[in-house]
Amino acid sequence: MSALHPSYGRVRTVAGHDMPDLLRVDQEAFPDDPMPYSVLRQFVDIFTDHVLVVEDGDGRLCAYLVATPPHRGDSWIFSLGVTPATRRHGLARELMQAALENLRAEGADTVLLYVEPNNKPATALYESLGFVPDPQGARPDHFGPGADRILMSLPLASPTAS
Ligand SMILES: CC(C)(COP(=O)(O)OP(=O)(O)OC[C@H]1O[C@@H](n2cnc3c(N)ncnc32)[C@H](O)[C@@H]1OP(=O)(O)O)[C@@H](O)C(=O)NCCC(=O)NCCS
Repeated sequence: MSALHPSYGRVRTVAGHDMPDLLRVDQEAFPDDPMPYSVLRQFVDIFTDHVLVVEDGDGRLCAYLVATPPHRGDSWIFSLGVTPATRRHGLARELMQAALENLRAEGADTVLLYVEPNNKPATALYESLGFVPDPQGARPDHFGPGADRILMSLPLASPTAS
């Protein structure tokens, strides 16, 4: 796994005391569609080991990822967000690689996620890790009216690209 710049902490599992910080990171990463506190809270409670975070040099969270444990071989990357001030520092790649490593060790066969068709940064990241888009293309209104999404998937049989 590649090392992050030393000013960032290592990828770690979320802790209960991270909630306010996690909410802030989500709001900064998704200003138009932040997660309700109650949803994020339940992810932290239910999928604790699958919520990964990174701290900046001041000990404040700046990036997070939520995955789901394997179910019938499938795991999902439910959310991935990095604060605007800390983007392009490799944090999302580091989080994705850590999550994929964990999910492979837990026996996941396939990792799935949805991405907005115009989200080029996220799409480029996922493609670089070996995810392939659903050949059927974008699913119209999948996340509600006007919110099309593309399903991407990665079989975990072979090691991921770095
Ligand atoms: C998408 C997002 C998570 C990427 O986070 P990041 O920490 O900046 O990404 P990284 O620095 O780890 O970059 C990893 C790769 O992503 C791609 N990438 C990231 N930002 C990019 C950009 N602005 N333009 C093009 N490609 C980009 C590149 O392939 C990059 O690899 P490279 O640095 O070797 O070129 C971040 O921009 C974000 O939080 N966006 C808003 C929330 C969001 O869209 N989440 C994903 C929902 S599906």
